[in-house]
Amino acid sequence: LQHLLTIEGLPKSIIYHILDTASSFVSISDREVKKVPLLRGKSVFNLFFENSTRTRTTFEIASKRLSADVINLNIAASSTSKGESLLDTIDNLAAMHADMFVVRHATSGAPFLIAKHLNDTRQHHVHVVNAGDGRHAHPTQGLLDMYTIRHYKKDFNNLTVAIVGDVLHSRVARSDIHALTTLGVPEVRVIGPRTLLPGGLEQMGVRVFHDMNEGLKGVDVIIMLRLQNERMSGALLPSAQEYFKSYGLTPERLELAKPDAIVMHPGPMNRGVEIDSAVADGPQAVILPQVTFGIAVRMAVMSIVAGNSGGDA
Ligand code: CP
Repeated sequence: LQHLLTIEGLPKSIIYHILDTASSFVSISDREVKKVPLLRGKSVFNLFFENSTRTRTTFEIASKRLSADVINLNIAASSTSKGESLLDTIDNLAAMHADMFVVRHATSGAPFLIAKHLNDTRQHHVHVVNAGDGRHAHPTQGLLDMYTIRHYKKDFNNLTVAIVGDVLHSRVARSDIHALTTLGVPEVRVIGPRTLLPGGLEQMGVRVFHDMNEGLKGVDVIIMLRLQNERMSGALLPSAQEYFKSYGLTPERLELAKPDAIVMHPGPMNRGVEIDSAVADGPQAVILPQVTFGIAVRMAVMSIVAGNSGGDA
């Protein structure tokens, strides 16, 4: 694994290897152990062309726990504002001896383009980790979601998992679906209005529900998604009130799931739109632990890709 670009096509064994490695890093990510020298002398460049709170910060923390030098490029203040192309930016940062690029971009495929360029220019020692590209993929979020599910449910064998909301614009949903089906979760459901579900979901191995009350019956895990207003044109955009009425997770709706069901959300949350605060802050929510697990999972991903120069992309 030279780069981590997507979960699609990633073998089950590699996903488990990442989750097991993350478990071994928990005491470091929780600061019981200060840091490990696995990335000492390496330079990790955080390139966030799209805003982020959780992903950017946990990548920075994870890099520091691995003893890497971290450079957070301020995109707004960079020469991209003068028209410098993405690949020219990459070449210039690579000339500063970058070892790893953590890339978030609003355009689907941008981290793939960078990885291909590095491979084409024989810079095989430089690694790319996708931190979310457009509506396509968010592999480290998918992996930390799997870590969270395994932590609370122990294994993936007998679970019913529901992903609820704006799947159409969600890179998290796509990464979660690939991970859950690869790990053998017997029933993956997606719940949402027809306008916010993409075609081809059944071919991805999921059951589709438009009625939230039907879809939530008996589930073990609920993954709520944000209504991605910034990726929608006016015609698609439902009113917040309308949406909450049909697809908001309320305490009453949560009772349709199993009594020990967990509630997840990748963040940022729109309270009162896709989730009621009573649920988001309630005893079944594991939304903040997801963020904490993200540190160990990102440490695992970075240490695994840094340990491989010249494998698959
Ligand atoms: N889950 C997630 O990607 O959050 P951020 O946009 O804050 O990184």
